[in-house]
Formats: sequence, C-alpha cells, structure tokens
Amino acid sequence: MNAATNAPADDVPLVSVAGLRVVLPTGERSEVEAVRRVDLVIRDGERVGVVGESGSGKSVTGRAIAGLLPTSPRVRVSGSIRVGGREMIDAPPAAWDEIRRTRVGMIFQDPLTYLNPTMRVGKQVAESIPADREGGDAARTRAVHRFLEQAGLENPAEVAARFPHELSGGMRQRVLIAIAIAKLPSLIIADEPTTALDATVQQRVLKTLDATVAELGTSLMLISHDLAVVAGMTDRIYVMYGGRVVEDGPTEQVLHEPRHPYTRALLRSVRSLTDDGVDLYSIPPELRRELAEEVADAS
Ligand SMILES: Nc1ncnc2c1ncn2[C@@H]1O[C@H](COP(=O)(O)OP(=O)(O)OP(=O)(O)O)[C@@H](O)[C@H]1O
Ligand SMILES: [Mg+2]
Repeated sequence: MNAATNAPADDVPLVSVAGLRVVLPTGERSEVEAVRRVDLVIRDGERVGVVGESGSGKSVTGRAIAGLLPTSPRVRVSGSIRVGGREMIDAPPAAWDEIRRTRVGMIFQDPLTYLNPTMRVGKQVAESIPADREGGDAARTRAVHRFLEQAGLENPAEVAARFPHELSGGMRQRVLIAIAIAKLPSLIIADEPTTALDATVQQRVLKTLDATVAELGTSLMLISHDLAVVAGMTDRIYVMYGGRVVEDGPTEQVLHEPRHPYTRALLRSVRSLTDDGVDLYSIPPELRRELAEEVADAS
C-alpha cells in the first residue's frame, strides 16, 4: 500500500489554508465568527497538531478543510483552502465529495454519530474503499479485514459481521480509523479522536492511530484540547485561541520555548497533570481575561 499515489508535487503543500474566516449562524439573527483569519499548512506525510480550549475554532477549522461545514446559506467562508494545490473555497459539493472520497479521511470524537446503526461494520468499511480498487468480492472482504486489523481490531471477520451498537467505545473508534484508512487518504483529520474514551483505551487507540499513519505515510491533523496528547504525536503544533492561531511552530519549540502566554498557560496545566488528567478547559478567569485582552491587542 502506498499513499504516495495521492501525493501532490513536492513544492505544493497537501493543505494550505490562508486567511480562513468562517462565520456560522447561531440563531435567527445572530452569528459567530468561529474562525478569524487562520493560516495553516500541512505538508505531505507531516503530522500537525491543533490545540486550544473549547470554542477556540479547532473543529470548525478541521471541518472547513474536509468540506464538512454546515450547508446553510448563512454560513460564510472566505480566504483560501487549497487541497493538493486546488482552491476549494466556493468549490461545488461534487468537488468536495471527491476530496473526501480520495484524499481526506476524518475521525470524530463520537463514532456512533458517524456510523450507520443499521449496517454491519464490514460493509461500512467496504463502502469506504474506492470503487476502482480491490476488484472482486473476495478481494474486498480481505481488504476490509486488513483495514480492521490495521486499526487494531483482533478477529476482524467477527467484528466485520457486527453492528456498531454491538461494539465497545474503543472498538467503534477503531472502526472509524479503519473507515478512514480504507480510502488510503493523503490526510487524516482526527478531531478529539479519543476524548470520549477512558484513559487506558485512549492510549491504545492513539498508539494504533500513530502506527497506522506512520505505516501508510499519511499526513495527520490531530485536533485536541489536550496538549499532552498532541505533543507526543506531531511534528508541528498550531495553538488556537478565540478563532485565531496565536502560535505555531515545531512541536519541540512550542513545548520548550512557547512565545504566547496562552501556550504557556496550556503548558502549565499539562505540567500539573495528575494521573486522572486535568481539564485544560479550566483556565482561571483572571488569566482568561488577560489573554482575551492580549489577543484583542494583537489583532
Ligand atoms: N454548527 C455550528 N453552528 C453554530 N456555531 C457553531 C457550530 N459549530 C461550532 N460553532 C461555534 O464556533 C466556535 C468554534 O467552535 P469549534 O467547534 O470549532 O470549537 P473547538 O475548538 O473545536 O471546541 P471543543 O474543544 O469544545 O471541541 C464556537 O463559538 C462554537 O460555539
Ligand atoms: Mg471541537
């Protein structure tokens, strides 16, 4: 298997986002500027982390790159999103469908929402394999089992025959990984892929994701509020706050020489991690006010 078949030319980043702004309706007359002028690049084979507190715009950025924003005419997206060099802002739905079929796989926090409850798991993985690959039924079935196994599921034949509700949370998340990698995508966007799982299962699923992405040479955009999760798995980190990127750089540099006070606050909360984990959403109100002023000044 080789993800390089989907790879763009060397000098064109796989994903290049510039000045991205996303405004979403929140009520009949209200809206929120969920993302404000975000610049972000993901190169071929690169692992990029996006961290930041709840509501900072991580998921909306990830969804914009996968063309999965809400479809309401009141949603306004501007700036530039290039995938493999192709401008996708205002691209027709069919163009986005193709990107998601062949280039970008997504893994979400809540697998049940994205799995079809009435379809056996094996069929759902099979449907994700592009039609022009794995010719006959037998070859497809073998491929399905291979992807399930690669996603860390033992007894793939047995798992393939089950419905999503017959699996544990960790197994469902692995099924989503299998569905994502079955496309042999150039990029996997994993949005809080393990947040809903307990700590031990979380570690195991992350390890599988790490190994699978490495094996396939796929780029990874790992979105998490948990800097500790992102630190161990990425080459570069983007720190988001209030719909903006407030800091980005090589993972080591962001961890050891953070420039922005918000990053320092995130790091402090990671450093005080206990075994049960600490909620990074709990930034003290005084610091939150300071950060808000700082971000406002910077813009
Ligand atoms: N479908 C939607 N409709 C309206 N507003 C939305 C929608 N999705 C997100 N928002 C708003 O956009 C902003 C950014 O949300 P986003 O989901 O990107 O945050 P996040 O960083 O992923 O947070 P979390 O860590 O909680 O997942 C928030 O103000 C949120 O309330
Ligand atoms: Mg989110």
